[in-house]
Amino acid sequence: MMKHLTAVFASLLVVAGLATTAAGVRFEATNNASTTPGGQRFDEEYGVGYAVQVMSEASFFVWKIFNQTAPEDRRAAMDDRVKLVVNFINTNILAFERDSESSITLNAGYVNNITGDVRTLVTGLLYHEVTHVWQWGQQDTNQTHSWIYEGVADFVRLRAGYAAPYWLQPGQGDSWDTGYDVTAWFLDYCDQLRPGFVAVLNQRLKDGYSDDDFLQIMGKSVQELWRDYKAKYGG
Ligand SMILES: *[C@@H]1O[C@H](CO)[C@@H](O)[C@H](O)[C@H]1NC(C)=O
Ligand SMILES: *[C@@H]1O[C@H](CO)[C@@H](O)[C@H](O)[C@H]1NC(C)=O
Ligand SMILES: *[C@@H]1O[C@H](CO)[C@@H](O)[C@H](O)[C@H]1NC(C)=O
Ligand SMILES: *[C@@H]1O[C@H](CO)[C@@H](O)[C@H](O)[C@H]1NC(C)=O
Repeated sequence: MMKHLTAVFASLLVVAGLATTAAGVRFEATNNASTTPGGQRFDEEYGVGYAVQVMSEASFFVWKIFNQTAPEDRRAAMDDRVKLVVNFINTNILAFERDSESSITLNAGYVNNITGDVRTLVTGLLYHEVTHVWQWGQQDTNQTHSWIYEGVADFVRLRAGYAAPYWLQPGQGDSWDTGYDVTAWFLDYCDQLRPGFVAVLNQRLKDGYSDDDFLQIMGKSVQELWRDYKAKYGG
């Protein structure tokens, strides 16, 4: 009897994925690529159950970094849900977040290509994408500003201890507005000089990004801060 119930339950999970609710938010994960090698690897080495747990933990971590202890300080997720779907997409994109749905797509093709530890790398990606769900400023359609949003997302990934092995090292990179790892290490430098910098920056990003944000929060222009940062690492 138990065996039978387990079997029925397991087959339902395959179709419906898994969900958990925390802090009034429903976290859902579905593997829509279970028949592909990367999707199979996701099921074996990660799993939808672990994914919902990580998305929930990542959300609490983001709220802490953003100093959003009260729910009313936070950006709302669409329908109070954060969704993950694993799909095979025939591109070199690892994962992306669709803001209008608070949904994250993880590319099964990337999971299949991973040579290191699937758990660490996928968790790092989920921290990055979950940050996009909660960060302010997604109405800032000025494409030249995407670097700051990607930088903040990688900053959260970094602070959570999931800097990827393929990232550049601290102090490397040509400009603060490169985005991703380069910007994340720079934000980390600023946040060490002024703890809580990224929380205040995120708050200001509600109105979209401006270079003036750095000056207002740090008391120095972004150009000057970048020069100091590069000097710290030998130029
Ligand atoms: C699941 O994958 C199929 C194709 O493989 C696609 O058409 C469908 O949109 C996917 N579903 C979701 C929720 O992404
Ligand atoms: C996975 O590797 C293949 C073969 O090198 C490549 O064509 C594909 O773009 C890679 N996919 C991703 C998501 O990196
Ligand atoms: C986009 O941002 C850049 C840099 O902050 C600025 O120079 C440009 O005028 C902005 N474009 C629009 C359409 O707001
Ligand atoms: C966090 O936010 C509270 C107000 O909600 C504020 O008093 C406090 O200074 C903030 N902390 C940091 C580190 O910015």
